[in-house]
Amino acid sequence: MRMYDIIEKKRNGGELTDEEIRFFINGFTDGTIPDYQASALMMAVWFKGMTERETVTLTEAMEKSGDTVDLSRYGSLSADKHSTGGVGDKTSLIVTPIVASLGAKIAKMSGRGLGHTGGTVDKLESIDGYKTTLTGEEFLNQVDEIGLAVIGQSGNLTPADKKLYALRDVTATVDSIPLITSSIMSKKLAAGSHNIVLDVKCGSGAFMKTPDDAETLATEMVKIGKACGRNIAAVITDMDTPLGTNIGNSLEVIEAVRVLKGEVDNDLKTVCIVLATELTSLVFGIDTAEAEKRVNEALSSGKAFEKMKQWITAQGGNAACLEDFSLFKQPKYSYDISAEKDGYISSMNTEKIGISSVILGAGRESKEDSIDFAAGIVLKKKTGDAVKKGDVLATLYTDREGSIANAEKMFLEALSISDTAPAPKPLVYKIIR
Ligand code: URA
Repeated sequence: MRMYDIIEKKRNGGELTDEEIRFFINGFTDGTIPDYQASALMMAVWFKGMTERETVTLTEAMEKSGDTVDLSRYGSLSADKHSTGGVGDKTSLIVTPIVASLGAKIAKMSGRGLGHTGGTVDKLESIDGYKTTLTGEEFLNQVDEIGLAVIGQSGNLTPADKKLYALRDVTATVDSIPLITSSIMSKKLAAGSHNIVLDVKCGSGAFMKTPDDAETLATEMVKIGKACGRNIAAVITDMDTPLGTNIGNSLEVIEAVRVLKGEVDNDLKTVCIVLATELTSLVFGIDTAEAEKRVNEALSSGKAFEKMKQWITAQGGNAACLEDFSLFKQPKYSYDISAEKDGYISSMNTEKIGISSVILGAGRESKEDSIDFAAGIVLKKKTGDAVKKGDVLATLYTDREGSIANAEKMFLEALSISDTAPAPKPLVYKIIR
């Protein structure tokens, strides 16, 4: 078999055989197929697409390109959630303890911030002592004991995706439905959970900018997950406005705790209830009305918050900071951004708001950068809110005084203020089961 022929076949719109796809993934992973041929194939796929069978084979070949996690000891109770990425998206910190408190087994591997979007691992590291690396045995022992552990992606999981994603990133081939599907689903399959809920974000802060594109991606991922034997649903949620009010690592942990303690009732809580309901329904095979009842009970009884404290403690974190937020590292500087005129916030370019928080130190501008865990933004007004000239729109927090002017400029560029209120938008567009 020759890589040249595989590239030519896809370039001409042909359907690759299982053997050809496996030949490519195996050869690319072990280095015998060079980057330039892999790039050419990625571009051919970008133009010509892939059938469902090709995408399933590609996903499974990437899943098996490295280690996989065996969660079979938890039977049908293993559960995972995945977000395609957003700004202020701290849903994993809320959904996982809710669903674990109901009896599911969650052995979760999460990512770090990427570009303007935050990552669960960085958020958890803002808690003093929290260990995001555990041995395989420690990881599963913790899930045995308390039903929940969250670590960074470790070991040799899906090396084919690691190499391919890096290549796609620099060859304009990221935004292809079969390539995104196989990239995300191969990681989810390798992580081993039987039940998976995907949160597919759509809007200015997301990868998919329109509900139609998000639906196409969500439908494809659900199809592939089912074809690979998993119980899976996807929820398409809004990312045209940051989720909740807090953006930045410890700020997001604080908002998550407030939701779990019942102190906050906002868009973040609504999205978390929908995601937790879907996952609970999949894990226990119950209808969504019953699942939602259990989810609300886990929140109102305090069981979900207790589970979070148990989880953070088990992983070495100082759970006292979840009760006393002053125990988090405090920022040196805070700065209020004020409205320059009266009106309504008609839109928030969420990617720019994410970049503003990165400028303050909440994310990395290059891979080597360190994160300022206390840096970020607390929104005082969001899309649809009325504002008067001089009202505080947001407060910025940072240790880097010199970053404030740039962050404010980026934040203000992101906002549009108009004379009339914008039409309300749905928070949850669609659920694909
Ligand atoms: N996230 C991934 O993990 N892979 C993609 O291809 C796109 C987003």
